[in-house]
Amino acid sequence: MLKYPKTQALMQRGCDFLGAEYAILCGAMSWVSERNLVSAISNAGGFGVIACGAMTPELLDREIAGTKELTSKPFGVNLITMHPQLFDLIEVCGKHGVGHVVLAGGIPPKGSVEAIKGHGAKVVVFAPTLALAKKLLRSGGDALVIEGMEAGGHIGPVSTSVLAQEMLPELSEEFLVFVAGGIGRGELIAGYLEMGAVGVQLGTRFACATESIAHPDFKKAFFRANARDAVASVQLDPRLPVIPVRALKNKGTEEFTAKQREVGLLLDQGSIDMGEAQLRIEHFWAGALKRAVIDGDVENGSLMAGQSVGMVTREEPVAEIIASLMAESEAALGRR
Ligand SMILES: Cc1cc2nc3c(=O)[nH]c(=O)nc-3n(C[C@H](O)[C@H](O)[C@H](O)COP(=O)(O)O)c2cc1C
Repeated sequence: MLKYPKTQALMQRGCDFLGAEYAILCGAMSWVSERNLVSAISNAGGFGVIACGAMTPELLDREIAGTKELTSKPFGVNLITMHPQLFDLIEVCGKHGVGHVVLAGGIPPKGSVEAIKGHGAKVVVFAPTLALAKKLLRSGGDALVIEGMEAGGHIGPVSTSVLAQEMLPELSEEFLVFVAGGIGRGELIAGYLEMGAVGVQLGTRFACATESIAHPDFKKAFFRANARDAVASVQLDPRLPVIPVRALKNKGTEEFTAKQREVGLLLDQGSIDMGEAQLRIEHFWAGALKRAVIDGDVENGSLMAGQSVGMVTREEPVAEIIASLMAESEAALGRR
């Protein structure tokens, strides 16, 4: 007997694809999604994903090996497409027989999808538009994650609800689509499953789980925050591109605004050239997520969080979070 039959029936294709009991992915979160959280998610029936981020191939090798010691269940690895050693990282995943590689951060470079598939692994891609989604799925992507701007971390400009309406009716029959961004409760999971999603991906809701190694002060900042505190970074000067990131407001986000003004002024005065100006903006947040997650510097670090942070009010074991999401979804479907 299935514990959540209506929800699990709608998740069936996603569960088969992931090899997990529930088609709930914990999205890769740099510094947070390491062996402890990833194994806890997979052990609880979800699907954990290691965030490779800027790790070297050696570090990723160790992280995968460490994760395998903590779980015998499937888990994935998230690789950033612009990583200079992307192909070496793919080899590391292949060596360990990682079953699912998620390619994030842009269009996969030529040959990367083929290299992953050459190891027998499945490729999960992100796409911000329907046209790109179709292109990636027709050129080797095995599943798609659509992620709206409610999410924590790097974001696009469109909300999850709009992306879901644009993409799911078009894609869900032929392809496997997971929905991410702003999901805090199971009722919403039920809704996206009914629209054709085969599963969901959450980050913010899992970042402060008991098993997460995030610093206690990072977790406290999440527990205190409301939805409106998780704001997208703002670009002040059209000449100085800022990649939008959603994070909790703090001293660092205020100083970033001041930094943009200062650099813009230096550019006006001709004291620095465009290349130098853009570099200064780019470098502002270097190492900032680690400062927040690992060192607990919640004033100057980057507290990446989605709008669902308002629903994160206490530390809970991963298994309890997954159980409540599934129960809420099941109850919602039962009321239909
Ligand atoms: C602290 C934090 C760090 C993140 N780091 C990454 C990352 O390194 N790579 C990535 O693809 N997504 C990253 N994300 C996005 C998550 O994987 C996930 O897609 C997102 O959190 C889902 O939306 P939600 O926050 O509304 O649940 C991060 C999110 C958070 C909150």
